[in-house]
Amino acid sequence: MAGASPHSRGVALIGCGSAQAEQVISNDQLGLRVETSDEWIRTRTGIGSRRVSSPQESLTDLATKAGNSALEMAGWSADTLDLVLLATSTPDDLFGSAPRVQAALGASHAVAFDLTAACSGFLFALVTASQYLRTGAMRRVLVIGADQLSRFVDWDDRRSCVLFGDGAGALALEASDGDGLHGFLLHSDGTRGGVLNLPALDTAAPLAGQAKHRQGGYRPIAMNGQEVYKFAVREVPAILQSLLDQCDIGPNEIDWLLLHQANQRILDAVADRFSIPHEKVLSNLAHYGNTSAATIPLVLDEAVRDGRIRRGHLLASSGFGAGLSWGAALLRWQGPA
Ligand code: UT7
Repeated sequence: MAGASPHSRGVALIGCGSAQAEQVISNDQLGLRVETSDEWIRTRTGIGSRRVSSPQESLTDLATKAGNSALEMAGWSADTLDLVLLATSTPDDLFGSAPRVQAALGASHAVAFDLTAACSGFLFALVTASQYLRTGAMRRVLVIGADQLSRFVDWDDRRSCVLFGDGAGALALEASDGDGLHGFLLHSDGTRGGVLNLPALDTAAPLAGQAKHRQGGYRPIAMNGQEVYKFAVREVPAILQSLLDQCDIGPNEIDWLLLHQANQRILDAVADRFSIPHEKVLSNLAHYGNTSAATIPLVLDEAVRDGRIRRGHLLASSGFGAGLSWGAALLRWQGPA
């Protein structure tokens, strides 16, 4: 882990990257499995298709690909990284997948660990990594959001299976004199956590004699869609408003809304709340659905690479999901023009 100048107190967003899972699954294909239709899914969610990893594709593969692409944009060699922070709820190994990603990247000097906060994971990881940069403890970090919820979706539950997909995105952050993280707010409320879960099995298995142990493993995702929807349209505008007030920034100064991609209706409702034109709301739901911790860096990467996001643009970001957890950050893009 390289040291950083004690005078470095800002954070610069230097590069981004993403990776998509191999298989494209259309709404019509899902209609072969559950009773649904392209029309229902598009109108209720904005989703047209999603990517699903093939059995050979690991979470580590996706995360590494996204990480390499961000390093390339930043122009950094992997061995200059101090930290690889992997936001995921679906590691290949419950002990953590970040060290595998670190090894695959060749980030030989970086410490690497996982952070789990479901769909808020990337935003929480971005803020966490930024603290190491602000204190001067680190100089270069790679934050990756990657998830393979396809492994835990109940593919026979039409109320949830149509929403999710797999993917990864990454952001290269550097300690800097200027500041690309104007402010942030993070929240958790476990009392409402029951509306969206990927719970551990509660099956008892015999151990020895009378003793039993709890069987390892997980049940599929269980979601109360309406409650999650209500939570999102209430809390996301509220946290963004608090953050704008805290930073003394008006909604008209925002170049892009960079929100967790869960449902187009949620994105539009947030934009309407701030009278932000829908063209300023980044969305790739039509192609990827909800990729959990990957949505924010994935849609960011697309918009940077196609030239919509340019150097100096102000991004209002919010992640929200299971926990319940939600957060917001005001970011300024400083990568390649
Ligand atoms: O990161 C956070 C992750 N979670 C979310 O973002 C979820 C947020 N919630 C949502 O996006 C929406 O609640 C959903 C898209 C999940 C559902 O939309 P909704 O407008 O809340 O629909 P609903 O649950 O009220 O269901 C309406 C009807 C029901 O039929 P009945 O009972 O009225 O006859 C459902 O059974 O639609 C039916 N339905 C479907 N029909 C066709 C539910 N899922 C489907 C489906 N295809 N896939």
